[in-house]
Amino acid sequence: MRAALEEAAAAIGAVDARVLACHLLGASRAWLIANPMHVLTESQDAQYDSLVARRAMGMPVAYLTGTREFWGREFAVGPAVLIPRPETETLVEAALARLPAVGTALDLGSGSGAIAVTLACERPGAAVCAVDASAEALEVARANAGRHGVKVEFLLGSWYAPVAGRRFDLVVANPPYVAEGDHHLGEGDLRFEPRAALTDGSRDGLDSLRAVIAGAPAHLAPGGWLLVEHGWDQAPACRHLLAQAGFAEIASVADLAGIARVAGGRRQ
Ligand SMILES: C[S@@+](CC[C@H](N)C(=O)[O-])C[C@H]1O[C@@H](n2cnc3c(N)ncnc32)[C@H](O)[C@@H]1O
Repeated sequence: MRAALEEAAAAIGAVDARVLACHLLGASRAWLIANPMHVLTESQDAQYDSLVARRAMGMPVAYLTGTREFWGREFAVGPAVLIPRPETETLVEAALARLPAVGTALDLGSGSGAIAVTLACERPGAAVCAVDASAEALEVARANAGRHGVKVEFLLGSWYAPVAGRRFDLVVANPPYVAEGDHHLGEGDLRFEPRAALTDGSRDGLDSLRAVIAGAPAHLAPGGWLLVEHGWDQAPACRHLLAQAGFAEIASVADLAGIARVAGGRRQ
């Protein structure tokens, strides 16, 4: 194992080499460190080579292992869904601070279900509904709700279309917000993630945020909150859109790096 790890580390770095070895062996990091002389079977050796080769080509580690941790829980992920990001935990934290114990919540663009399933786990008395335009993503999200033993109402469609006429105490969304043409789309993990999860094709990346914010007042109960995640430079635009839509108590929330990544407001 030691030689295989060293060879892999030279190609993809020691951290990824270890994560992939743990995944392959179903072992913990501690076990791996304590058993450097463990001998891989021929088939394990071939599988490890294949994992390392795919990682070296840029495939995200989360797609290779099939999981990513979010809010302390393991979520199944695959190429049909965005890999949940740590920044999105800022959105969840703000949402939990505003979701009543027996309230109703709507998660727009639920992807892997990271937000919706976390809200359902943390607020067992709340009713959580999740919408996504991708049937494949909803399948992953349903599996994650099952994995964590919570009931979430999953609906296929575009933004508010599947919840016409319904109102919620809280609406959250982490919509695609990368501007079309942004060079990041051609770099790192983003090259492998679903394009429709990253960008809506608008030049400023704001079209989905416009749709989510403009449609929110008709789907919020009086006093209900809307919270959206956005790009690092989109906070002023989002606050402006919230004001245009008539929201009160408009505020931005910064992520752990101190960058405003969530904007929200309250329906009067
Ligand atoms: C940035 S990802 C967020 C995924 C997940 N909520 C998270 O935070 O990890 C955006 C999601 O919005 C979905 N989406 C894009 N356009 C949509 C639309 N018009 N209506 C509903 N969902 C949409 C994509 O399929 C994708 O799952």
